[in-house]
Amino acid sequence: MGIEIVTERLRIRPAEADDLPALHGVLASNPWYLELTEGSGGEVGRYDLSAFQRDWQVASVTGREVLGAYLRPGGEAVGLLDLMRENPRDGCPWIGLAVVHRDRQRMGLGQEMVEALIQYGKGHLGWKRARLGVIVGNEAGARLATALGFKAMDRVTRRFPAGLREVVVYERRLVDRPG
Ligand SMILES: CC(C)(COP(=O)(O)OP(=O)(O)OC[C@H]1O[C@@H](n2cnc3c(N)ncnc32)[C@H](O)[C@@H]1OP(=O)(O)O)[C@@H](O)C(=O)NCCC(=O)NCCS
Repeated sequence: MGIEIVTERLRIRPAEADDLPALHGVLASNPWYLELTEGSGGEVGRYDLSAFQRDWQVASVTGREVLGAYLRPGGEAVGLLDLMRENPRDGCPWIGLAVVHRDRQRMGLGQEMVEALIQYGKGHLGWKRARLGVIVGNEAGARLATALGFKAMDRVTRRFPAGLREVVVYERRLVDRPG
C-alpha cells in the first residue's frame, strides 16, 4: 500500500509520473550531490529528467519506492525520499536517499521528513530498525543521520553511476530489543 504521511509542515506520498518534473527539480538543486553519485560524464546535467523518469519506472522492480514531500499548505515540492522496505542484502528497511531542495535546507525539513517516515515504518510496517548510507565526506548527510539518532555501524564500498564510493552505514534501532 502506498505510504501517505502528514506532518506539521509536510505531506509525504508516493511519486506519480506527473510529480517527476518537480521532484527532479529538488534533486537538481543539489548539483554537488548529483555529481558525487551520478557523475556528469563531462556533461552538465547528465542526470536529467528522462534519467530520473527511467529510474522511477524501474524502482518498483528493484523493490524501491520513490516518495515526494510537499509543503503544507501550498504543495510546493521540497523533498524526495527513496525507500526500500526490505533490502535483500540484510533484510532491513533502508532509506536509500533523502534530499531537500537547496532553497529549503537547514530549516529542519530533512529531519521532519525522515523522522516521519521512520515513525510510519515503526507504527505501520513493523520496523524494528532502519538503516541508511552516507557517502564519506557528505557532511550534511552525516549530520542529518546523527541528528536523527542513527549510529554508524559499518563502512562499505558501493558502486554508483559516478564510480566506487566509500559509504558509512548508519542504523537506528526502533525497539529496545530488536528481533
Ligand atoms: C542532507 C539533507 C537532506 C539535510 O536536509 P535539511 O533539511 O537541510 O536538514 P535539517 O535542516 O533537518 O538538518 C538536519 C541536521 O543536518 C545539519 N545540516 C544540514 N545541512 C548541513 C550542511 N550543509 N552542513 C552541515 N550540517 C548540515 C543540520 O545542522 C542538522 O543538524 P543539527 O540538528 O545537529 O543542527 C540536505 O542537505 C540534502 O538534500 N543534501 C543532498 C542530499 C544528501 O546528501 N542526502 C543525504 C544522504 S541520503
